[in-house]
Amino acid sequence: MSQAQQRQILVTSALPYANGSIHLGHMLEYIQTDIWVRFQKLRGHQAVYVCADDAHGSAIMLRAEKEGITPEQLIANVKAEHTTDFADFLVDFDNYHSTHSEENKQFSELIYTRLKEAGHIATRSVTQYFDPDKGMFLADRFIKGTCPKCGAEDQYGDNCEKCGATYEPTELKDPRSAISGATPVLKDSKHFFFKLPDFQAMLQEWTRSGSLQEAVANKIAEWLDSGLQEWDISRDAPYFGFEIPGEPGKYFYVWLDAPIGYMASFENLCKRRPELSFDAFWGKDSTAELYHFIGKDIVNFHTLFWPAMLHGAGFRKPTAVNVHGYLTVNGQKMSKSRGTFIKARTYLDHLNPEYLRYYYAAKLGRGVEDLDLNLEDFVQKVNSDLVGKVVNIASRCAGFIHKGNAGVMVAANPAPELTEAFAAAAPSIAEAYEKRDFSRAMREIMALADRANAWIADKAPWALNKVEGKQDEVQAICSLGINLFRQLIIFLKPVLPNLAAQAEQFLNIEPLRWEDHQTLLSGHQLNAFQPLLTRIEPAKIEAMVEASKEDLAASETAAAPAGNGELVKEPLAAEINFDAFSAVDLRIALVEKAEFVEGADKLLRLSLDIGDAKRNVFSGIKSAYPDPSKLEGRLVLYVANLAPRKMKFGVSEGMVLAAGPGGEEIFLLSPDNGAKPGQRVM
Ligand code: MSP
Ligand code: ZN
Repeated sequence: MSQAQQRQILVTSALPYANGSIHLGHMLEYIQTDIWVRFQKLRGHQAVYVCADDAHGSAIMLRAEKEGITPEQLIANVKAEHTTDFADFLVDFDNYHSTHSEENKQFSELIYTRLKEAGHIATRSVTQYFDPDKGMFLADRFIKGTCPKCGAEDQYGDNCEKCGATYEPTELKDPRSAISGATPVLKDSKHFFFKLPDFQAMLQEWTRSGSLQEAVANKIAEWLDSGLQEWDISRDAPYFGFEIPGEPGKYFYVWLDAPIGYMASFENLCKRRPELSFDAFWGKDSTAELYHFIGKDIVNFHTLFWPAMLHGAGFRKPTAVNVHGYLTVNGQKMSKSRGTFIKARTYLDHLNPEYLRYYYAAKLGRGVEDLDLNLEDFVQKVNSDLVGKVVNIASRCAGFIHKGNAGVMVAANPAPELTEAFAAAAPSIAEAYEKRDFSRAMREIMALADRANAWIADKAPWALNKVEGKQDEVQAICSLGINLFRQLIIFLKPVLPNLAAQAEQFLNIEPLRWEDHQTLLSGHQLNAFQPLLTRIEPAKIEAMVEASKEDLAASETAAAPAGNGELVKEPLAAEINFDAFSAVDLRIALVEKAEFVEGADKLLRLSLDIGDAKRNVFSGIKSAYPDPSKLEGRLVLYVANLAPRKMKFGVSEGMVLAAGPGGEEIFLLSPDNGAKPGQRVM
């Protein structure tokens, strides 16, 4: 590829928060981005893919405190976990950095200083709730109280789950700190604001310059029409982040330095890769392309604040922001109780990453619609397309070439119309990849695979092989089959890099590049054929779903930090009537034995005496009882008529009731007051 044709492309995915594990929802984004970058590299462009952990903010500070470690230790642990998850899903970052880094500090200070010098920073006093016990200001999500509209108790500081009202935290009745329980007091503090309205005209133009998908541009037009607000970019100590230069005790809000993390990660890479120049990619007059891949929940940060910050500080703006929708599993929001909130690691414990890469590719279009991972469809599609169509071609043909011709492909091409049709499909497949219309690319590739299979089936080399004098024809058919397989592998390589590497090994060739689809192998020696990809066994899916239930068994009752660092409120379940309530057979049970379950992080096995019978129950309370023997001899409340549930470790017969916020703070109700095992409660 000539210098003139070679594009310089910098690509990012959103920086995952450093306070939680990667799940299959996140993976949608990293797989989408990785496929696009691999496609660009396969085409010979200079593409660079950077990412980092988003390591700042109060959620991370509080979680570290809870775990009794420093925030630095927490983010180091999480970064190690994230990078192995990504590597095992074959996401090939050129660099994976952290926003808590020297480079990010420098760029954050530089951008802030330039914005300030240009008059884009304002300061004013803000009155906010303050936790006097904790000595910190409370974000809305850390305040709870009674809804001012409907009187529902235990609602968060900005909206009511019960009646849907939104309000100011100061309107809540009986407010209290969700961190310490203390009654918060109102306190003034100086805050720093980024004057976003200064950039109204620039944003109006940029958002309509083809940088955004139609639906996203329309949404932003609404925001622009209703007028932009100044953006509060400071937080008071204690906070885990960067102190604002010259303002002791004031920190940059996490979302100020998070996107700057894209630059920091790239700058960090430049130190290792001297052929890359920071200015060539980020300078005002850069001719390189810059793309951010993000989910639909963080559009405002990337299409308003971020381009305005870049523009105001004298850097180039993104070429495009590519937004994807949210992942649902089996048609519903990922759910902990259904076992569909699947962590990247749990998936990898059971299944090959390329299955998921292919499935996401087969379903991803250019739009912002949500994408459903239907687990039955997943098994069916992967087995039928990858195993049944693609790999099948090679496994059908390789044996005849090895047995009949010592593994050497012959030069004859008995169906040039096929190899030409495959090559002719390349521009359209490339265009689909380029536009992120991966589902179209996969459809076109599978249509080619169907043609190859139909042709081979029609020629039936297995039948011909039994006919005397037809050996040359068999070799010609099978050699062509292998050539068609090779062309398909080139087209699939961005999605299935491991399968491609295995195929290259079997084909005995150098790593394939996109333009290789124009050539064919002839008179070429193959290596022994190894099985390339096996079918998904549905039992593996069941095991993964079961393990996802177990993963989260202990935290289900607890408020868990959401991806956005906010606390998720467990919504109140639908009302039940008294009959439904009294159908619950609540008994007193005696814990006879409590023991660890091998291989389970959170479970204890409890042997219960319920008076007239013994029961075996798995309970997700291990973190609260590091020494399970402490439970032995105690009485607990027990749901006796819950349908038995088959778990990875055995059958759980019923459930022990516990309360508390989760983690180490789970309490078993234990009315040791003369109650007898088997007694019905209420
Ligand atoms: N830390 C911020 C991003 C800062 S970028 C300068 C953040 N982190 S996140 O961990 O919550 O999300 C990372 C990315 O994963 C986001 O683009 C988000 O939209 C995406 N997803 C998180 N959950 C998702 C699904 N369930 N489905 C699809 N994408 C999802 O936001
Ligand atoms: Zn309410």
